[in-house]
Amino acid sequence: MAKKIILTGDRPTGRLHIGHYVGSLRRRVELQNSGEFDRIFIMIADAQALTDNADNPGKVRENILEVALDYLSAGLDPEKSTIFIQSQVSELTELTFFYNNLVTVQRLQRNPTVKQEIVMRGFSDDDSDNKAGTPVGFFCYPISQAADITAFKATTVPVGEDQAPMIEQTREIVHKFNSVYGETLVMPEILLPDNSACLRLPGTDGKAKMSKSLGNCIYLSDDAETVWTKVKGMYTDPEHLQVSDPGHVEGNTVFTYLDAFCKPGHFTKFADCFVGRKSSFTFSSLDEVKEQYRKGGLGDMMIKNFLNAVLNDTLEPIRARRKELEQNIPYVYDVLRKGSEEARKVAAQTLSDVKAAMKINYFDKGVLDELIAAQQKKYSE
Ligand code: TRP
Repeated sequence: MAKKIILTGDRPTGRLHIGHYVGSLRRRVELQNSGEFDRIFIMIADAQALTDNADNPGKVRENILEVALDYLSAGLDPEKSTIFIQSQVSELTELTFFYNNLVTVQRLQRNPTVKQEIVMRGFSDDDSDNKAGTPVGFFCYPISQAADITAFKATTVPVGEDQAPMIEQTREIVHKFNSVYGETLVMPEILLPDNSACLRLPGTDGKAKMSKSLGNCIYLSDDAETVWTKVKGMYTDPEHLQVSDPGHVEGNTVFTYLDAFCKPGHFTKFADCFVGRKSSFTFSSLDEVKEQYRKGGLGDMMIKNFLNAVLNDTLEPIRARRKELEQNIPYVYDVLRKGSEEARKVAAQTLSDVKAAMKINYFDKGVLDELIAAQQKKYSE
């Protein structure tokens, strides 16, 4: 049976937040523990991070460790998943160089995620007068991402929704490569979160995306006090002024987070949160909480208290593991070094297949003899 292989990863530009967790990390851990996959590769994409941080290598270097700590504390297990650093697998850049020829500038320009990111980063299409143009490496990163995915013959790429255009482009490259050079690369499939609240978790301010630059993140490594401060300040329903007012659940960030984090057991475990001085409620499902909020009478502080308990229920074990790992940094680097060595072996095999398919493997065993024979024949005629 064909092997089932996962590849996914993150740019090390900051610590991971709960948007990364529900959008991808939690699922990876489940997939890892499901035993359904033959191999799992988790990549810290430092080379990709450098495409728009060329002048800030220190930030990228520092965050490699932060991301690795977040991975291991969230439950990725180096015995089951190969965790590695992108830049240490130089075969990836070689693959990228060959794939570059299969993609047009116009196709890259149509990539919606890249388009959006160019606007967000303030890259201008005119780089005169000291304005920041778009770095070529940044513009082309979807191609390098195709190299990441295909180098490991990944069948499954679990990522957030914003990465869908990258997987789409990868699929086009695979198709093009295989039709030009013969069946070589494996066609990957995207695996999106199954809960719609997790597709793109909004920021604590209700803005569409949780992102470090917007300052609206709850980090996996935030302590309980920080989480409570952030939850207290969260955006809810601006029309829900009095506790007795009917409230809106849609577009209410507290409920979106509950959709993403709530488990059935939480209603008994944290029943206390709904016992108030003026009114008390007993709920057995999130739908019941929502119904009461819509009717009115359920205050924002009560649901924020509940959300805080729910969040900490997930975050506390992650925090505890992080604390331990922070005391064992050499171990973390050892995981990364060994993972990178392993990843390199796999990528080298694919690169060799690619070169053979492209007939640029001149000095491979047997190939040279054939080449010599053919050329000799030509010159002896
Ligand atoms: N672009 C991804 C991010 O921004 C990181 C990444 C790089 C990636 N290469 C990948 C994800 C390959 C999945 C597959 O987080």
